[in-house]
Amino acid sequence: MAHEIVVKTKILQSGTERAMCIGIDNGKINAVEKYLDGERELHFEDYLALPGGVDIHTHMREPGMTQKEDFYTGTKAAAFGGTTTILDMPNTIPSVKNELALRDKLDIIKNKANVDFGLFGQLSDIDNISGMTNLAIGFKLYMSETTGASGTIKTPLEHLLNSDALAGKVVTVHAEDPRMFADDTCDNLHRHNLIRNMKAEFMALRRILAVDAPVKLNLAHLTTAESIDQVKAKRASFEITPHHLLLHDASKIDAMGKVNPPLRKKAISERLFKTLKTGRAIIASDHAPHTLEEKSVDFKDAPSGLPGVETRLPLMLALANKGIIRYIHVQDMCCTLPAELFGLKKGKIETGYDADLAFYDANNMVKIEAENLHSKCGWTPFEGHHAIFPKGVMLRGQMIIRGGELAIEKSGKFLK
Ligand code: DOR
Ligand code: ZN
Repeated sequence: MAHEIVVKTKILQSGTERAMCIGIDNGKINAVEKYLDGERELHFEDYLALPGGVDIHTHMREPGMTQKEDFYTGTKAAAFGGTTTILDMPNTIPSVKNELALRDKLDIIKNKANVDFGLFGQLSDIDNISGMTNLAIGFKLYMSETTGASGTIKTPLEHLLNSDALAGKVVTVHAEDPRMFADDTCDNLHRHNLIRNMKAEFMALRRILAVDAPVKLNLAHLTTAESIDQVKAKRASFEITPHHLLLHDASKIDAMGKVNPPLRKKAISERLFKTLKTGRAIIASDHAPHTLEEKSVDFKDAPSGLPGVETRLPLMLALANKGIIRYIHVQDMCCTLPAELFGLKKGKIETGYDADLAFYDANNMVKIEAENLHSKCGWTPFEGHHAIFPKGVMLRGQMIIRGGELAIEKSGKFLK
């Protein structure tokens, strides 16, 4: 039987690159074999195909903050970075704390996405959870205030997380304990780190990991190796961001590097690489764009957050190219594990999975320049860092990025 599409390319099998054919029917991978017949053939023989990236932590800013980003531009940036699925956080305006806000948000953005997407609900009032479970792909819990989120939880944690409506759901936690924050003037990256210090992260983790509840706890943006050990001991999942790996409190990027939790000392970020070498982590961008204008005020008044959805996977591939981590682990951490956490049939090049693919020339390392990126915010904290961007990107069997252009617009589908 000839498949609708056959892609001839190289893929990773048991960690090694192999020339293979990927047979695609109805937007799904239907066969992966050495030789296959197709009604249409796509030739990517010289490229390495990875599954489309899955970024489970982004802030696309719509509705309410579309001067920073909107669903169209944010998902376009994702596509150009080889990411075909994004999950969007609830700290938009209004924040997504109940069913009505979630439905309104979905109505506003549903026909604008260039990649597949899911939406988080925010945990605040226990009575509002069940109304969101049909549409929300997961829930977000802010243990402290942060840019755009008040962090007020109206119900005691134990009670909230034991809500019947949450059973089996992913709860992504922003773990910083505000009682540990130091009272100081936050006038540079070094001081920002001292104020929202590592102890605030440890204490919040200790608190949340002590809660006994039948949810899938996922700890967002962990910044230290000790935090990771704490979380692993409880068998919860966790995210690491590229910025906490590659940037630190002495990076010369001023408020562009202001983010919560803060960038740490270089020695701390270097120790995160130990986990990267095992491949058992989820790399998520925490893409949180603000305009350059908003970032250009006094450091202490600048909002926290930085863009990263387009650079997440390309930065990791550059590390693999340099031999610092393995390509197969990039695939695991950026595609497979994040999809698995949310039960998505994505993130693997195997029969039965969505035909989301990105094709890379693994030798084509470039330096990141903001002017070549696609987020509305127009800047990156990774200017000059090495990266490998995809040459083509497929979403459910359709080439959405081809010849350096967004070839098909707004074909992203809502994921529940
Ligand atoms: O730095 C941050 N910015 N941390 C957050 O938790 C929120 C984010 C934002 O939305 O800007
Ligand atoms: Zn975030």
